[in-house]
Amino acid sequence: MLPFDWAVLRSARGFRMVTNGMHGLGSTRMNDSYTALDTAFAERFSCRAFRPDPVPRADIERIVSTARKTPNWCNAQPWQVVVTSGAETDRFRAALGQEVLSGTPEPDLTWPAAYTGVYKERRRTCGMQLYEAVGVAKGDRVASGRQMMRNYDLFDAPHVAIVHSPKELGPYGVMDCGGFVTAFTVTAASLGVNTIAQAAIAAYSPFLHRYFDIGDDRQILCAISFGYADPDDPANRFRTERAEVEEIVDWRG
Ligand SMILES: Cc1cc2nc3c(=O)[nH]c(=O)nc-3n(C[C@H](O)[C@H](O)[C@H](O)COP(=O)(O)O)c2cc1C
Repeated sequence: MLPFDWAVLRSARGFRMVTNGMHGLGSTRMNDSYTALDTAFAERFSCRAFRPDPVPRADIERIVSTARKTPNWCNAQPWQVVVTSGAETDRFRAALGQEVLSGTPEPDLTWPAAYTGVYKERRRTCGMQLYEAVGVAKGDRVASGRQMMRNYDLFDAPHVAIVHSPKELGPYGVMDCGGFVTAFTVTAASLGVNTIAQAAIAAYSPFLHRYFDIGDDRQILCAISFGYADPDDPANRFRTERAEVEEIVDWRG
């Protein structure tokens, strides 16, 4: 049995009726997909306190499997990730902590030269939200420094992914990997796995190259610590805001 009534399809009017119906079905499916995707985006947040429970390897594979579908220039797929689990995460955490005490930051990617205007304001707002949540008083540099150092404990996460890209692909390789990082974090959220992207760790790129044997032909972009959030930790109790669509889009026509 064919799925269509071919007699109806023979007339142009009938064809329109059938295809319009298909379009309707397509739109319902699209709305469901939109809702699922928007929910995953809404549920993702930067987690700054993890429980120790590991993420099953099958779920990590699902996250990477979906993230690899990220669009990228020429389908070069520049992303590569080192993913640690179990004792390897703890060993890395300890070594990174030592490095931060003795080494100096030297990121492969140049850090922003300055945040001015609205960017400065937004940066300040999210910093204040974090400090308010964890009880760091304004101007308390010791306490804010202590919070910053939590980056190097991987916020106690059971896993970290180190994301790197071939140097020869330059800024577009970095751009493609940025998409991959977003896809990784949002897919993780859809599976109930929490994440935080961390430039703070990539600041110690020479150490990361040595420690994970990542060639000098690659640039280290960021880390993603991941696992399951500790919902009771104050560091996880705030959410950042975003500018409205009208502030983003310059509509023409
Ligand atoms: C590439 C990248 C690097 C980041 N580096 C850090 C970091 O080193 N430490 C940190 O606490 N948060 C870091 N973040 C998290 C951002 O501060 C966070 O995404 C932003 O404030 C928006 O908040 P949200 O992720 O909770 O929506 C980073 C995010 C991205 C995408």
